[in-house]
Amino acid sequence: MSQDIYLTGITTTGTPHIGNYVGAIRPGIAASKDPQIRNYYFLADFHALAKNQDPDNISQSTLEIAAAWLALGLDTDNATFYRQSDIPEIPELTWILTSMAAKGLMNRAHSYKAAVQANVEGGNKDPDKGITMALYSYPILMSADILMFKATKVPVGRDQKQHVEMARDIAQRFNHHFGDVLVPPEAVIGENTALLGGLDGRKMSKSYNNTIPLFAAEKALRKLIMKIKTNSLEPGEPKATEGSTLFDIYRAFASETETHEIEKRYAEGIAWGEMKQLLFEYINEHMKPAREEYGRLIADPGIVEAELQKGAVKAREVAVPYMEKIRNAIGIRKLG
Ligand code: TRP
Repeated sequence: MSQDIYLTGITTTGTPHIGNYVGAIRPGIAASKDPQIRNYYFLADFHALAKNQDPDNISQSTLEIAAAWLALGLDTDNATFYRQSDIPEIPELTWILTSMAAKGLMNRAHSYKAAVQANVEGGNKDPDKGITMALYSYPILMSADILMFKATKVPVGRDQKQHVEMARDIAQRFNHHFGDVLVPPEAVIGENTALLGGLDGRKMSKSYNNTIPLFAAEKALRKLIMKIKTNSLEPGEPKATEGSTLFDIYRAFASETETHEIEKRYAEGIAWGEMKQLLFEYINEHMKPAREEYGRLIADPGIVEAELQKGAVKAREVAVPYMEKIRNAIGIRKLG
């Protein structure tokens, strides 16, 4: 058995929030420190274009997301950390894979179907209104991201599982046609990725506008935590941890012993106000060193850029020779 290669992308829209931290950033950083694991993390800025055409938003988000990973301690010597658009082989492979991707397969992509359905429900005559080819072909670009580095395991949220399966399909079709060149990947679904609730109790997500930014300044953090929805139980009344957003967020950060301690406090009827204060203090303390480092990086983006360039060099050491092999397999070769 050859060694697994892990790879995941983060779309560069918005500011990193604590749901991202718990779901993707924290496990990714832990894996980056394990010398037994080969892993790739990248900023999917070409993917961001499918949904967002605001240049300032895309570049600011790239800086913030990269700075967050670095401030939290990503090991960029062991892991390869890069920006998708710095690797020209990725769009090159995307086009080649486009020739192996059935149009019917793309018609079935959830993200595309959801956009069509929104148009139909909104009473639009044209079901494809506002849908770009970038959104439609999104899974092919994602396949290129994955196949370019022979990733075998792709940690993603549940909503991205189908895209990884499409990458698998496309790789198999390519191999069937051109010989055994690509490596079909597998999705790895994080157990608690989808579980963290936001301010209103729904899943914490940019699209619900209910997030807590990971590096919110102390005052803003306190204000947001005080807004988290609770039920109307009085102080002293026993409270269930199940379904409590405050508890879920606390547990996502705390150790097992600390979590048990809080379970006891819930059973004893801790007041919601006290629980909010306690959660605020915990996250504030926990995030303080990384928040300071994050501030330093945001103020000095050249440091972040240098890290990304270092990653691009490492990534292309793999991508360039592999692309040569892929071109050769499809018959795009030097003559003579
Ligand atoms: N589409 C993914 C998301 O929105 C991000 C992404 C782009 C990705 N390319 C990838 C994830 C490759 C895993 C592998 O979350």
